Amino acid sequence: MTIIKEYTLSEEQLKQIKAVPLTPESFAKFGSIISADHQVANAPKSSANQGTAIKLHKVAPITNNYKDCKSGVMGTANWNIFRCSPPKHLLSESGTSTIYTSKVLERHPFSTQTFMPMGRAKSNIPAYLVICAPTDYNTDGNLPDYTKLEAFLCQGNQSVTYGMGTWHAPMVALGDEEYLDFGVLVHENGVPEEDCEECVYSPGFQIVF
Ligand SMILES: *[C@@H]1O[C@H](CO)[C@@H](O)[C@H](O)[C@H]1NC(C)=O
Repeated sequence: MTIIKEYTLSEEQLKQIKAVPLTPESFAKFGSIISADHQVANAPKSSANQGTAIKLHKVAPITNNYKDCKSGVMGTANWNIFRCSPPKHLLSESGTSTIYTSKVLERHPFSTQTFMPMGRAKSNIPAYLVICAPTDYNTDGNLPDYTKLEAFLCQGNQSVTYGMGTWHAPMVALGDEEYLDFGVLVHENGVPEEDCEECVYSPGFQIVF
């Protein structure tokens, strides 16, 4: 991981961003999701497992583009585990809402990254919060356009795949449990500045839900 830029935000850049439910449509510009109830109607499908399973085909594409990296070291597909505790120091209550203070955006320039939650009950209660920003191609280094931050509330039976190079906040587990485990699929080559870039914001953005 390499920090490529640090920002100090002015008062007017501190506007609050309201998190919305994660759907294939709401997340489309940042990547893809696996969300069976959303996809069962429209995804290409077939019968599998002697008729006991419905197979939904190719719901969340993954990309390995390390062929374009400077070092020439190819990335391998790795399943990692992220055991994520709710970041209590960044979460606060305000009336009936919760506010998360988002201070970091990162990206994986040559790979998609999929977070698949494990072990949280199926429910409509949000299990984790995802925050993304589009890339500002007018900046040197293609930095995040943090004026267009968007936030998504995700359930325990939904996974998120950040598109290759998509700026996103570190994972925010929610709820009362000590931690939420994710299986995380990403391509990595072990060269820190090629695997992950980071921008840091002070005092941070306020995400409300
Ligand atoms: C997740 O599970 C809950 C409870 O069964 C269900 O209501 C909801 O539709 C499911 N969500 C998705 C995206 O499949």
